[in-house]
Amino acid sequence: KILILDFGAQYTQLIARRIREIGVYCEIWAWDHDPADIPKFAPKAIILSGGPESTVEAGSPRAPQIVFDSGLPVLGICYGMQTMAMQLGGKVESGHSREFGFAALTPTMSCRLLDRLSDTPAVPMGEGESWMGQQQPSAAHAAADGSFGVWMSHGDRVTALPAGFAAVASTHDLPLAAMADETRRYYGVQFHPEVTHTQHGTELLRRFVVDIAGCQTLWTAENIIEDSIVRIREQTGSEHVLLGLSGGVDSSVVAALLKRAIGDRLTCVFVDTGLLRHGEGDQVMQMMAANMGVKVVRVNAGPQYFSELKGVDDPEAKRKIIGRLFVEIFEAESKKLSDVKWLAQGTIYPDVIESAGSKTGKAHVIKSHHNVGGLPERMHLKLLEPLRELFKDEVRRLGVALGLPREMVYRHPFPGPGLGVRILGEVKPEAAEVLQRADHIFIDELRKWALYDKVSQAFAVYLPVKSVGVVGDARAYEPVIALRAVETIDFMTAHWARLPYDFLDHVARRIVNEVRGVSRVVYDISGKPPATIEWE
Ligand code: XMP
Repeated sequence: KILILDFGAQYTQLIARRIREIGVYCEIWAWDHDPADIPKFAPKAIILSGGPESTVEAGSPRAPQIVFDSGLPVLGICYGMQTMAMQLGGKVESGHSREFGFAALTPTMSCRLLDRLSDTPAVPMGEGESWMGQQQPSAAHAAADGSFGVWMSHGDRVTALPAGFAAVASTHDLPLAAMADETRRYYGVQFHPEVTHTQHGTELLRRFVVDIAGCQTLWTAENIIEDSIVRIREQTGSEHVLLGLSGGVDSSVVAALLKRAIGDRLTCVFVDTGLLRHGEGDQVMQMMAANMGVKVVRVNAGPQYFSELKGVDDPEAKRKIIGRLFVEIFEAESKKLSDVKWLAQGTIYPDVIESAGSKTGKAHVIKSHHNVGGLPERMHLKLLEPLRELFKDEVRRLGVALGLPREMVYRHPFPGPGLGVRILGEVKPEAAEVLQRADHIFIDELRKWALYDKVSQAFAVYLPVKSVGVVGDARAYEPVIALRAVETIDFMTAHWARLPYDFLDHVARRIVNEVRGVSRVVYDISGKPPATIEWE
């Protein structure tokens, strides 16, 4: 396994995802994590990530000394290269112009990390990174001198190498773009091998973790499932487990995994809020209860939700009501079950990293999650989190391997409060029905036109403003449906998707023809920032 020390770069999780895709387990720890834990974790190599700070500033983060005393191979990326150079006796300078974007990297000396890298196959784009309309670096970068396209994003640069190091690659603007000390197996790269814009980046990482560090590639869906099953059985013994099923990917995968591990000792409670997507409640029952034989208690709480949301149009108030009701209903249902000792949750690795964070207080943005926080303590249940080491793409692969339908597993994200935040203003049952039908047409057509997987998230929004239309010979005065589709990697920033006009035209026609009460459809062309992905 590999340890990644995080200096706060937005790309750190990508490094971990790439390494796991290669088949090697790795963890991300904050750079100021207690160094005494490192020998206990026993990694085969350490990667130092990029970071937003400047190594030349006093008090900026450093790698703990044990990293260089351990005799392990070390790869420094961007800030990681700079701090490595600095800590081992080299020099870093700031004040040069910022370099952001593509550069052609030319190897200047042979080293195990970069040798003939440009001869290796380029790697396909990772999940969630097929940005429509964005130019990939082309073969133009693959020149005879072995140079290839890399992605740069830095202000500072290494200007003097520490003893033992050689300069192994340069770009037009940057003489020291990569450095290596082959004896100690220390490597530094100023570019970002983890982003797909860097050609051969995954192969570079593979060389480091497999060829140089000697890791085996055993981290596969099958192995993860087998290990999890053993662990779940050990943890729970003969006790019963309760799981809140939401219809989302994470809780569905937990259900499938637990079913395989402990069979009928799993009971799921599924609160159908009436604010789910079209037909979703029945789909959940079909998939989980009918197909997989999971015990599911379905609570049809729609009427209760609509009644509590009556007259409420403030978004925050709506969210609070929806969250509170969920907890109340879930708790009441759970109390009817005797003998339960565990509450399972679909916590995944990004949640764990975010809540761990760096002690020195980097601003980690935390999404307001709609979950059962506080419930385990109140109900005296032990917490079972079988996905807490996994990234979303790993959870998805696990889901497929466990036999869940691909279509469900690769679905776009859906917010916890559901259509409650997509019906602007007061949430009425009639609006929910109109919205479900319009949304269903949009999604259905995205799939038919093979556009669904090209966008990161797409949905319809119900706008309670009245607009004038002519339906038949009569004048109509009806609400508006807005369509939103975005492309994003991390959901923190997003572009609106450049969907083809013909496609949008077709969807709009179907919606006004098939959904009664809608005569106008608009397309949202706002980016995030400033507009959030959801409208509320
Ligand atoms: P925004 O609207 O903040 O959304 O740009 C970013 C991503 O988060 C989802 N989202 C939520 N997910 N509970 C959730 O579980 C919520 O309350 C919530 N609000 C937004 C949104 O769908 C998008 O994917």
